[in-house]
Amino acid sequence: YRHLLGIEGLSPPEITALLDRAEEAVAVSRQVEKKKAVLRGRTQINLFFEASTRTQSSFEIAGKRLGADVMNMSVSSSSVKKGETLIDTAATLNAMNPDILVVRHHAAGAVHLLAQKVGCSVINAGDGAHEHPTQALLDALTMRRHKGDIGRLTVAICGDILHSRVARSNILLLNALGARVRVVAPSTLLPTGISQMGVEVHTSMADGLKDADIVMMLRLQRERMAGSFIPSVREYFRYWGLDREKLSHARPDALVMHPGPMNRGVEIDPEIADGPQSLIREQVEMGVAVRMAVLEALAAHLPNN
Ligand code: CP
Repeated sequence: YRHLLGIEGLSPPEITALLDRAEEAVAVSRQVEKKKAVLRGRTQINLFFEASTRTQSSFEIAGKRLGADVMNMSVSSSSVKKGETLIDTAATLNAMNPDILVVRHHAAGAVHLLAQKVGCSVINAGDGAHEHPTQALLDALTMRRHKGDIGRLTVAICGDILHSRVARSNILLLNALGARVRVVAPSTLLPTGISQMGVEVHTSMADGLKDADIVMMLRLQRERMAGSFIPSVREYFRYWGLDREKLSHARPDALVMHPGPMNRGVEIDPEIADGPQSLIREQVEMGVAVRMAVLEALAAHLPNN
């Protein structure tokens, strides 16, 4: 494949091959000398129309570890502010002959559209509420390193499913690898048709977390909600925030994940976020490895390779 636009379209062997490649990248990243030459002479542009800490910085580090020249395009100081469209911006960057474009955009489908307009490889770094494929891959890598075969796991994805591209990509990936997937949320934060995605739907944390191996919490995306539908933080935490009592319904060896950024005291109690069952910091480390793996996989399909 020339682009990575979503988990949709990747076969289970392709997902497993990316995870295996990322495992090697973890080892490289823990060495003193971290550089490889896979992307030497190549240009990678990170084009983020939405805020990011983890994804943008890890794509930059990953590209540099593979020897690429990486340019971070600052949208806030670009001509996008003067009304230039996504496609014109992409065509302008494309005229500078990059090899890889990493794109985050607030509109679902925007990255697919852009991929049709440029000559280089495109990686989706999150498009609206649609997909965030490298997040699902790094989550799977983190789970696999701790729990082994993903196909044997029960994973509870909890909270704001409605606005979450992370949930969507995780559901697609976990289903592809045979995991039992539950979504746990108030009915107002569940998308219509979610039960057709091959998940069990639960509207109480006690039921949804029962005997789960992995509890994945999601950020309450208040910026994507209309005024009157924004739940009160105190009430949300009481019913949906992961605290010690709610976590006690999961397996005793259950592990807790969160893609970040976290809202402490909203969807997760700081005691759990920083506690012994939390994998949240490790997810960040796996993020660099997975992005190295994806960049390497695409490098094999770049012209003159
Ligand atoms: N998980 C994630 O995508 O984080 P950022 O928004 O900080 O990139």
